[in-house]
Amino acid sequence: PVIYFVTPTYPRREQIPELTRLAHTLLHVPHIHWLVANDHERCDTFIDILLNRFGIPFTHMASPMPSKFRGSKPAPRGVANRRAVLQWIRQNNLTNGILYFGDDDNTYDLRLFDEIRPTQRVSMFPVGLIADYAVSGPVVRQGKVVAFLDSWIAGRRWPVDMAGFAVNLNYMSQYPNVNMPYKPGYEEDLFLRSINLHIDQIEPRGNNCTEILVWHTQTKNKKAPVVRLEAKYMDGRSNLGAL
Ligand code: UGA
Ligand code: MN
Repeated sequence: PVIYFVTPTYPRREQIPELTRLAHTLLHVPHIHWLVANDHERCDTFIDILLNRFGIPFTHMASPMPSKFRGSKPAPRGVANRRAVLQWIRQNNLTNGILYFGDDDNTYDLRLFDEIRPTQRVSMFPVGLIADYAVSGPVVRQGKVVAFLDSWIAGRRWPVDMAGFAVNLNYMSQYPNVNMPYKPGYEEDLFLRSINLHIDQIEPRGNNCTEILVWHTQTKNKKAPVVRLEAKYMDGRSNLGAL
């Protein structure tokens, strides 16, 4: 099956380097479709040019965060993007393939793709560099997920990171109410609840969740000056040569 790799992204000066680094991972992966959903009101041409150049099959969509959430702290990061992708999957009646939410700043071991491809319903695996414990993931006993380790449980039934699971689209298509609400911190939990997941159905991956194949790395970012975030450097070009 094809892996639908869902990447929320947003305009900032780190956007092109993040997408470039991620593309250089995805270029090693066969049968992949990259769903790039930008938190922006339109599809920038420079992103299209960039994506075309990589040669990875992709769909580029614009999915801005609703303005009422823009200033809120915490803001629902990447949610409008993932919701747009869920809508696109529904509209295209996609019931074949594997869905994975892969943020633009994480680090992915190539073995992760071999692990998630045979997902029947929902597979899960640990994610490195999450909060205080530096790891978040399922606890496995005799090949079955029995509990979760995460430094922020917060009443969640599924205390997992967005990068810690994959879903079979055929399974997901049975749940027309699949959703990811704008609720910071609870996106994963409520998404997994919306597809009626049961603990005994979870397929542990990464040698019974003993291997870390994805890390929640974060790029130190710097706010761009208050000018329109366009051209000059945002589109990956520089006018230095012309000075
Ligand atoms: C963590 C989780 O790993 C995310 O899956 C989760 O969405 C996020 O927390 C959250 O709920 O706040 P974190 O590293 O804190 O991720 O957040 P970012 O990496 O900054 O954002 C998550 C994704 O959303 C990224 O792919 C980013 O490009 C995108 N994003 C971020 C937007 O589309 N718009 C924004 O304003 C900020
Ligand atoms: Mn991140």
